[in-house]
Amino acid sequence: MSITLLAIESSCDETAASVCRDGHILSNIVASQAIHSRYGGVVPELASRAHIQHIVPVVDQALILSGCDLSALNAVAFTQAPGLIGSLLVGSQFAKSLALSLNIPIIAVHHMQAHVLANLIRGSTDQDELPEFPFLCLTVSGGHTQIVICHSPGNLKVIGETMDDAAGEAFDKSAKMLGLPYPGGPLIDRYAASGNPLRFKFPEPSIPGLNFSFSGLKTAILYFLQEQQGRDPEFIEKNLPDICASIQLRIISILLNKLQKAAEETGIKEICLAGGVAANKGLREAFRETGGNRGWRTFIPKMEYCTDNAAMIAITGYYKFLEQQFSPLTVTVSARASW
Ligand code: KG4
Ligand code: ZN
Repeated sequence: MSITLLAIESSCDETAASVCRDGHILSNIVASQAIHSRYGGVVPELASRAHIQHIVPVVDQALILSGCDLSALNAVAFTQAPGLIGSLLVGSQFAKSLALSLNIPIIAVHHMQAHVLANLIRGSTDQDELPEFPFLCLTVSGGHTQIVICHSPGNLKVIGETMDDAAGEAFDKSAKMLGLPYPGGPLIDRYAASGNPLRFKFPEPSIPGLNFSFSGLKTAILYFLQEQQGRDPEFIEKNLPDICASIQLRIISILLNKLQKAAEETGIKEICLAGGVAANKGLREAFRETGGNRGWRTFIPKMEYCTDNAAMIAITGYYKFLEQQFSPLTVTVSARASW
């Protein structure tokens, strides 16, 4: 029997739907919410309202593009945690209602597990083949920074994570200090391309084990900018590319030094990237270069599978379907949940 799933992602500020058949993605639709940029960050109540507006057209579009109609569906997968409660509720209630009306099961998916498993979507990464188990994954997003060891689609363990800010937050908060609009990560990336990364030196924290910290870097950047602007009020305007390149270099070195440590400690050489920050050109290049030097096989998903999307929920749902891991309709969403 072939397995056809509809998957829904609504954990933060993207409303997304995807249809997948036997592990192949047939459609992947995302509606982003531009409204938050004027507030300098995601406003939860506005996000919930925008999900309500977007969810029907987004699901409709995903079904049309896949060529499947509702009667073809065997289950509905949705993001259950972590995320903004109001946002998660829109996706989960929609998934439950649809599944109930079609008399098919629901599959609750953990968003961070799904980011990792984006590397298991066929044709998703820059490699012809899928990564072999066990692989390591550095997941870098706006809300999380983790190193995960993946033994199988259902057996993942977090072996390192941030103790304060996420890597995406480090980018976005740095950008805010530089007067750039939200989300500033992609802008830092763009300015960094023409800057000198060795011009300014920011500190690398010494955190034991495989955990990360970005709050010290944030404070160092703040004091640095205050001091320089005290001397020259136009310091940022005059030096923006070099400042961005220097900040980016430090964030990348914090990430990749821990990833190298994890690879050494585990002996694993199949190494994946995941999450929105994997869009960063500097990180992608440095990751490939480090992998080349260390004999790793590196995997980077296409952009559409790095930033929040429902295809990653679909592939995770597919593996859960194979294990018959369905959830009761009483399952609740959760802002924070371990896995
Ligand atoms: O995974 P994602 O789309 O959403 C979350 O689950 O958080 O990640 C969003 C984060 C934001 O912090 C954004 O600034 C960052 O990814 N980001 C980037 C780039 N593109 C997105 N950071 C640095 N360079 C980029 N090119
Ligand atoms: Zn995410």
